[in-house]
Amino acid sequence: MIRVRRSPRTLAWALALGLWSPAFAQHPGPADHEGHTHPAGAAHGGHGGHGAGDHATMHHRFKDVAWAKKHFEDPKRKAWQKPRALVAALQIAPGAAVADLGAGSGYFLPFLAEAVGPTGTVFAVEVEPELIEWLRTRADKEGLTQVVPVLSSFDRLRLPNAGVDLAMMVDVYHHIDDRKAWFTRALRAVRPGGRMVVVDFKPGDLPVGPPKGHKISAAQITEEMTAAGWTLVQTLDLLPHQNVVIFRRPLEPAPASP
Ligand SMILES: C[S@@+](CC[C@H](N)C(=O)[O-])C[C@H]1O[C@@H](n2cnc3c(N)ncnc32)[C@H](O)[C@@H]1O
Repeated sequence: MIRVRRSPRTLAWALALGLWSPAFAQHPGPADHEGHTHPAGAAHGGHGGHGAGDHATMHHRFKDVAWAKKHFEDPKRKAWQKPRALVAALQIAPGAAVADLGAGSGYFLPFLAEAVGPTGTVFAVEVEPELIEWLRTRADKEGLTQVVPVLSSFDRLRLPNAGVDLAMMVDVYHHIDDRKAWFTRALRAVRPGGRMVVVDFKPGDLPVGPPKGHKISAAQITEEMTAAGWTLVQTLDLLPHQNVVIFRRPLEPAPASP
């Protein structure tokens, strides 16, 4: 068997960002515990740490912009991520206000900006100030005038009340702590009747995605989101490795924040 040596840091990022492969599994590295690893020096206690989150929550920070750009924008991703088809399937109306929750390096921003058109708005929400800085630069460079970067905190989105028609999160759900509370609060950011789209890795053996303990079934996502006050609209059978589960904020007023 060919043995590939990888540093704990490399492994941690690969796991966190969906670049896991069986080659990594053979060598989980010395920092591994609870089924995944942490980047050297990563501050994962600052947003809850172990014990504060749901079973499947994965705690990592994403401060390294160069790393994020290299890995999130990997050209090979397009084949399984199908960003244009995914955004098209969401049937976003021109002029809409949408939010990309956990926007990362901004992989989805050009597609969302195109969908909302020149009169729409795309809030690019991130917890990492370094990524917010990059998202601002990227939006300027690419002429994405609709993009508004928003520095959120781990437990607060900091979006205007009922400010978006649709919120989307791709490969972020499994990083969220105390999802019931988080998504109950998130109701307020989406207008009544608006949608929340959760895209995250399917359980099972995949060539990409986090390790087993952090992959979440569509049924579990639905159960958690329903408990948080969202109504299931549909699941899309569109992507090979990720579930796409669409919810709606009910028309009645959102419950008060816990
Ligand atoms: C795996 S990356 C996905 C990035 C992007 N959505 C994509 O598909 O390329 C997860 C991102 O979510 C961000 N994130 C994690 N927890 C968050 C939270 N509670 N609120 C907002 N963003 C969060 C991280 O900083 C990171 O950039």
